[in-house]
Amino acid sequence: MSMIRSRSAACVSGVAAVAVAGSLVAVSYAAPVPTTLEDFFLPGTQPETLNHSFSDSNNCQACHTVFEHDFDPYEGWVSSMMGQAARDPLFYACLDIANQDVAFVGDLCIRCHAPQGWLGGRSTPTDGSALSGSDFNGVGCNFCHRMVDPENFDNPSPTPAVDREVFDGVPGTNDGVDAVAPNPHTGAYVVDFFDRRRGPFDLGPDFFYHEWELSPFHANSAMCATCHDVSNPAFTAQPDGTYALNDLDTAHPTADKYDMFPVERTYSEWLMSDFAAAPIDMGGRFGGANPLVSSCQDCHMPDQNANACRLDPTARPNMPQHAFNGGNNWVLKAVRSLYPDSETFLTEQLVDDSIARAEYMLENASDMELSEDGTELTVRVVNQSGHKLPTGYPEGRRMWVNVKFFDATDNMILEHGAYDDVTADLTTGDTKVYEAKLGVDAAVSAATGIPEGESFHFAANNVWIKDNRIPPRGFTNANFDSVQASPVNYTYADGQYWDDTLYTIPKGAAYAEVRVYFQLVSKEYITFLRDANDASVGDPLNPSSGEIAYEQWELHGKSPKVEMDFGTIEFNGVCIPDFNNDGELDFFDLSAFLMALSNEMPSADINGDMNWDFFDVSAFLNLFSQGCP
Ligand code: HEC
Ligand code: HEC
Ligand code: HEC
Ligand code: HEC
Ligand code: HEC
Repeated sequence: MSMIRSRSAACVSGVAAVAVAGSLVAVSYAAPVPTTLEDFFLPGTQPETLNHSFSDSNNCQACHTVFEHDFDPYEGWVSSMMGQAARDPLFYACLDIANQDVAFVGDLCIRCHAPQGWLGGRSTPTDGSALSGSDFNGVGCNFCHRMVDPENFDNPSPTPAVDREVFDGVPGTNDGVDAVAPNPHTGAYVVDFFDRRRGPFDLGPDFFYHEWELSPFHANSAMCATCHDVSNPAFTAQPDGTYALNDLDTAHPTADKYDMFPVERTYSEWLMSDFAAAPIDMGGRFGGANPLVSSCQDCHMPDQNANACRLDPTARPNMPQHAFNGGNNWVLKAVRSLYPDSETFLTEQLVDDSIARAEYMLENASDMELSEDGTELTVRVVNQSGHKLPTGYPEGRRMWVNVKFFDATDNMILEHGAYDDVTADLTTGDTKVYEAKLGVDAAVSAATGIPEGESFHFAANNVWIKDNRIPPRGFTNANFDSVQASPVNYTYADGQYWDDTLYTIPKGAAYAEVRVYFQLVSKEYITFLRDANDASVGDPLNPSSGEIAYEQWELHGKSPKVEMDFGTIEFNGVCIPDFNNDGELDFFDLSAFLMALSNEMPSADINGDMNWDFFDVSAFLNLFSQGCP
């Protein structure tokens, strides 16, 4: 029984009804691909080789909680998805299906989602059931701050000799580091043997609170690359551009991410963007004291004028915020429903604040420009983030354009990209949806029984079917191709970091309202997580992790959409006095106008002063007397 099931059984009894519904449509697949732990071996520090175990993040809280809420490293981290990564119910739902499809792949997942547990040797069984104690710190304070630059052990450091001695990176030597991956990725980290806390600041020779090392790596995007470029090492790139399963029970032949199947390329997308080349003045839209942004840290850990420790009241002008928000606007609520606050250290306030920050990131991630060209409305979405928009986890994440055309009397005459908040159904056929879609080829289909083509089977997928996510500033096709991040079934010209969608303006439309929405988890994906999960389907006493995730999705607003952009555009060529749009100027227009006026409709505010009064009547009569062309 996996940990999440045993711990949360009391809280999730309401899942029973869902469990029964789920069983009706559950699909069973053939046995998993018979991979072994060896297929997921990656270089770097290996399990059970550290001299010191990890200190729980609570131990950092004692000093690294400051009184100014927003700047608090502990509160920011604990209410981030990284801080709760090992309690995320979507993670467990996906993990169980991954293990079902590809044996032992869960070891790979735990490496990034619960690194302290992985290094402690608790990643088998690969369903996470052996994780315990501070493993649930997810990506914990002590883990991140013991990471060592795998490509440069000789960082300027007070004790460089010790670094070299402990991490020589020579295969076969007894240093726990069995060679190093060519560039940081897929959780192939190198971690300090001892509990020496590494960070960007020189704390001086007299610092006595704990052992520390100066680490420029921590101010560098390469540190985030360790986990934000995700590859599947069970597959190797072939000369024809396809990805084939490796020989079973063998490690990947090169351990280079670009020879593996690309799952997430957030770091590489950034690496090939203008942000990697030099800082760009983004006007402070991502918060913090410095408008110039380049690295992941600049946007996701913006500099604050604050102190990092309650024992040390001196504020630094560049204290990195630890909130790490992206697009996740509800999973923390699910974590809080499933686990007691005494375990998560979450509160309603912390969760609400984190979600507000995620919404702020999403609102600032893009800009929208609307223009009219004859009979067409063009909706341009400009990517202002440091990677593709959206980026990261491919399954179920999406953005779409919603357009509502109105006539002069404010009746909606046509909608594109309609979304039903009650059923969570999105009408996709008549608008642009920005998303990635993956799938399996014939060979993987034969090995797994998963039907060939589009699939949500995360660990088995080995083809990209669609990727029209908007590239960042500095995009070129050649560069993105070199990091396996080309658009798929879509084209962007070199230099293009925006996308245009054209909509025909329907007859009689006076104006349109346009919105761009983001959604973390589509209904299709959460339904898949429920139905493809074999474990205990239909057992009301022991709901599967898929059923738990589905229940949480229902409980917390079905992954509420977030409005990223909003704008209106009025169309020229509309005859205002022909108020009812019937092509005639007559008494009926006057009466429709007066009705709209008395209801204070925007269309009747002819002079646009937000008052509905005599001056609008007189302006209307004046236009009426002029007639229409
Ligand atoms: C995902 C990795 C990650 C996690 C988790 C993390 N940090 Fe950090 N931390 C960083 C990075 C990266 C920097 C440096 C950022 C920069 O230079 O822009 C940093 C900087 C710091 C600093 C230096 C700030 C100063 O003014 O001295 C402190 C202290 C700190 N972190 C404490 C913590 C504590 C406490 C936690 C847990 C509550 C934590 N960190 C969790 C990555 C992390
Ligand atoms: C190299 C590190 C790494 C590995 C390996 C990895 N993940 Fe993740 N995972 C991430 C990162 C980073 C994100 C967040 C990306 C984002 O927010 O877009 C993520 C996000 C997710 C999410 C979305 C969570 C949410 O709340 O929306 C799920 C589910 C998930 N991973 C499951 C898995 C499973 C199952 C595996 C193993 C088959 C796995 N991951 C392997 C790094 C990793
Ligand atoms: C007894 C108090 C105390 C505790 C407990 C404590 N720290 Fe610190 N730590 C400090 C002080 C004081 C500083 C200096 C802050 C500054 O100058 O901005 C600091 C600085 C740091 C830095 C910055 C290092 C650098 O070179 O930039 C990191 C990283 C850090 N601590 C991590 C941790 C982690 C992780 C934990 C928990 C495992 C922790 N600390 C627990 C007092 C503490
Ligand atoms: C040990 C692996 C690891 C490292 C190192 C790491 N991350 Fe993450 N990160 C994750 C995982 C796993 C998730 C997804 C957790 C989930 O959703 O359950 C994640 C999620 C995120 C998110 C998305 C949060 C959201 O609300 O959607 C952001 C932003 C992020 N990380 C930024 C960073 C930055 C910046 C760095 C470098 C300073 C970094 N990460 C380093 C593993 C890591
Ligand atoms: C110029 C600012 C900027 C830079 C640089 C940047 N990001 Fe982001 N990032 C954003 C914004 C804005 C969002 C919110 C949009 C979204 O969620 O897609 C975001 C979202 C994310 C997410 C969540 C994606 C999702 O939808 O769940 C992750 C993970 C992430 N960033 C990681 C990184 C990493 C790792 C780097 C460095 C390699 C980085 N970011 C660099 C601005 C930036």
